[in-house]
Amino acid sequence: MKQYKVGIIGATGMVGQRFCLLLANHPWFKVEVVAASARSAGKRLEDAIGNKWAMTSPIPENLKDMIVMDATADIEKISSSVDFVFCAVNMKKDEIKALEEAYAKAECPVVSNNSAHRGTPDVPMVVPELNPEHIEVIKSQRERLGTKRGFIAVKSNCSLQSYVPLFHPLMKEFGVEKAVVCTYQAISGAGKTFETMPEIVDNVIPYIGGEEEKSEQEPLKIWGKVEGGKIVNATEPVITAQCLRVPVSDGHTAAVYVTFKKKPTKEQIIKAWESFSGVPQELQLPSAPKQFIHYFEEDNRPQAKLDRNIENGMAVSAGRLREDTLFDYKFVGLSHNTLRGAAGGAVLMAELLAAKGYFD
Ligand SMILES: NC(=O)c1ccc[n+]([C@@H]2O[C@H](COP(=O)([O-])OP(=O)(O)OC[C@H]3O[C@@H](n4cnc5c(N)ncnc54)[C@H](OP(=O)(O)O)[C@@H]3O)[C@@H](O)[C@H]2O)c1
Repeated sequence: MKQYKVGIIGATGMVGQRFCLLLANHPWFKVEVVAASARSAGKRLEDAIGNKWAMTSPIPENLKDMIVMDATADIEKISSSVDFVFCAVNMKKDEIKALEEAYAKAECPVVSNNSAHRGTPDVPMVVPELNPEHIEVIKSQRERLGTKRGFIAVKSNCSLQSYVPLFHPLMKEFGVEKAVVCTYQAISGAGKTFETMPEIVDNVIPYIGGEEEKSEQEPLKIWGKVEGGKIVNATEPVITAQCLRVPVSDGHTAAVYVTFKKKPTKEQIIKAWESFSGVPQELQLPSAPKQFIHYFEEDNRPQAKLDRNIENGMAVSAGRLREDTLFDYKFVGLSHNTLRGAAGGAVLMAELLAAKGYFD
């Protein structure tokens, strides 16, 4: 496989730091540029991050001396020195939209963790195991933007990775009619650690701005179809969500209740989960988990602390599947929010795009 030069836009942030770890020794991608705000620009990456480094392993040796560029002022320079960029920045939605479009228009593809473009109909929002075919819409997006290479592809919100992958293998045969999900979300999802979010210790905060709408709506885009150069959202299942912030460093848990059009047996559900695999497994993409969904028989699993790192944080876990009194079934799901849910999911999407020739 060809090697691609990549940039990390937002390299000093929580998701950016994950990108640094995932890309420092990646077989296909070589980090050529790190960029952040004007506050960090001109500094060594290690100095720019300072005491904000939130990962358990140290900042990679081959990246720590890189000089941080200015994500906005250096767009032309960055675009001409890399094959594509990963983007995870904390800015206003309009500013992010403009920034990502500026990179795309400078013929630099953008693989984004930001939510700004998730609603744009010709921007694919891809979970590579679930809807890899959505990348076809890039052709129409390029026409709209007037670009040859440049485009934007986005990752979905982190919360829904803890339940949408568990509905997906059941959709075709059994049809998911409606679901209630309650998510228990880690503080790294807000870019925080226990040091920077002391108010979460001994506490649960029952509000995460915008999260419930994303958790209900984004799955419908993932299950949508490419039609007439855009993605037309699915109209079902109906999902209602409540999202809570809990004192956990990494790993979003979801408590799920679901009713099917045709009720499966418990054994059929577990079999569908354990046997499910997608294009990333078929293509053996470097970051693809060997088994996407892991089911636990133990009553006290999955647990965020014990199970978030299964298959390098790229697998999704499920447990406590049982019949319910109001819905057909209830169960618990778990995924690592900054790995599968953010940087890892974006790297996997980039591997899919690379394998399909979108960066050439
Ligand atoms: N954390 C998660 O689990 C997660 C999951 C999915 C999606 N996301 C999304 O990923 C994005 C980043 O999240 P995060 O948690 O990594 O945030 P974060 O820790 O606050 O990091 C923000 C990054 O954005 C940069 N930045 C801020 N203002 C900027 C500006 N004006 N121009 C250029 N760069 C600027 C920061 O650079 P400086 O250090 O120079 O300020 C830093 O690198 C957000 O859109 C978030 O919604 C996060």
